[in-house]
Amino acid sequence: MCGIVGYIGKRDSQFILLEGLKKLEYRGYDSAGVAVHTAEGLHISKAKGRVGELESRLADQPLIGCAGIGHTRWATHGKPSDVNSHPHTDNGLKISVVHNGIIENHLQLKEELEQLGHHFLSETDSEVIGHMIAHYYKDSLVQAVQQAVARIKGAYAIVVLSEHEPDKLIAVRLASPLIIGVGEGENFIGSDIPAILEHTRNVHVLGDGEMAVITQDSVELMTLEGNFIAKQLLYIDWDLMRAEKSGYAHFMLKEIEEQPRAYRDTLGGRIDEQDKSIVFPDMLMGLEQIRDMEQIHLVGCGTAYHAALVGKTIIEQLTRIPVEVDVASEYRYRQPIITKKTLVIAVSQSGETADTLAAITQAKLSGARVLGITNVVGSSVSREADFQLMTWAGPEIAVASTKAYTSQLIALYLLALYIGQSKGSIEQSLRAELIDKLNKLPEQVQSLLANTSQIQRIAEQIAAFKDLYFMGRGLDYMVAMEASLKLKEISYIHSEAYPAGEMKHGSLALIEEGTPIIALATQEHVLEKTISNIREVKARGAYVIGIAFEGNLELAKAADEVIYVPRTDALLAPALSVIPLQLLAYYTALARGNDVDKPRNLAKSVTVE
Ligand code: F6R
Repeated sequence: MCGIVGYIGKRDSQFILLEGLKKLEYRGYDSAGVAVHTAEGLHISKAKGRVGELESRLADQPLIGCAGIGHTRWATHGKPSDVNSHPHTDNGLKISVVHNGIIENHLQLKEELEQLGHHFLSETDSEVIGHMIAHYYKDSLVQAVQQAVARIKGAYAIVVLSEHEPDKLIAVRLASPLIIGVGEGENFIGSDIPAILEHTRNVHVLGDGEMAVITQDSVELMTLEGNFIAKQLLYIDWDLMRAEKSGYAHFMLKEIEEQPRAYRDTLGGRIDEQDKSIVFPDMLMGLEQIRDMEQIHLVGCGTAYHAALVGKTIIEQLTRIPVEVDVASEYRYRQPIITKKTLVIAVSQSGETADTLAAITQAKLSGARVLGITNVVGSSVSREADFQLMTWAGPEIAVASTKAYTSQLIALYLLALYIGQSKGSIEQSLRAELIDKLNKLPEQVQSLLANTSQIQRIAEQIAAFKDLYFMGRGLDYMVAMEASLKLKEISYIHSEAYPAGEMKHGSLALIEEGTPIIALATQEHVLEKTISNIREVKARGAYVIGIAFEGNLELAKAADEVIYVPRTDALLAPALSVIPLQLLAYYTALARGNDVDKPRNLAKSVTVE
């Protein structure tokens, strides 16, 4: 949600900033801009629209200089427009600022500054920052930034470049991510790793309430009060290819196709094949803590929430520990019953989602232990949580999450088995059977990806519809919810998911002649009941596309057509049945001519509440 970049060194900064912004465009693409310290002083170029728009402007009017900052915006306060784009500045055009987050008290600060003679140009909350720094600036930019941020309430990642002291960039962070890339004779700033990966793999992850003063040869880290902090450099061993499109038309397709590898990496090193047991060298949650646990709360947003819903069923079945699941933005407001014997599991691809972080804070305040399941090393969730379980999906760039979701499922399967084996609640034979079936999943996903012609044909058909429904029972319903979200977010077709048995309680009224319904039927212990529900919708004119395990001929008789997935255990079915539905969303969006990787109104990594 908004991408920030910064560069200071010996090279022409505008190209480095533009390349960084392109890599961060998934965080917001309403507008983009850069500020560069040129031979004639500080200059800003910014434009509504994609980074490409800014690139054209810079091609016409280049900004040459070796220090610069840049921003790609996901609008919160003020519509997308040139003037609302970042960088913002003060009236004297001496200070430029890029900001990700929300300044909650901006109206009060703006009023105060206006009374002192400052004029505001935009409708954004961010513009107050530059004016505040200008107001406090005497002879030290560091001090002025410290004084300004002390007045700000809200969430922020801010980077400042000033004509007063053009030999440095200042970065501050509270609740919005920011990393510093350390190079030789040059240093970088980015909201996320892909922005700087091309230049360096040595990074500092800025913590909450921390500040960095960056020159071309040095990075000084300190608290907002000015106390110096010593930090180890983190080495990022991501494969650059994984953060790039590598010949694919879209990141989403590439990420869907990377799933066999992501499954293997998330399983990797966590199964003792001899013993058929789960080992978690990296999680550090001891046996005592597991045995002590009386209840589990899972929290997450969007797709991560849907993974958590699958997690509830698996954990309850394999461990018999009661599990509750909450949308993270609701959790702390419903006054959940959290005790010292509650384990709160926060699921988040980015590890930076503001609602999920707020849920963690609530859990910790109530004395619970927190386990973070996240895909980004060094992310806020992984740092805030007591224990962490990494998913190894690799960088996910497309706004619509695919490989991160399935890697979360794999992590949750491993976790449920691990807790089950630690508590003795799962038979050794069942554990061995599930482990064998888990090991087969990557190959089974590969086979699903090998033949997509049926899905492409169905996608062409449904692309013409305005509404589409998904239904299923148990875990099939959980996957239906994820499939529905995927379809609506990139195809813009209205879609809802229902528990199959619930349709007759009201939603059946929506069905008309030809309405497409996707009925998931991998949970064969309720197959007859699901088939009855399919008959009910077909009797009202629905066109039913079933999803079932290979060899399920009964569904073929009840539905208009069936997409088959390889057979596995019912508990593991979500890790396979979701694959054709991700592809269906992708090809439907493509057929409608949508921007698959950057759907309208959305951004990846939602760092505001
Ligand atoms: C949908 C999607 C979002 C995210 C949600 C949480 O495809 O990607 O619903 O799942 O914003 O993000 P993370 O997992 O980063 O906390």
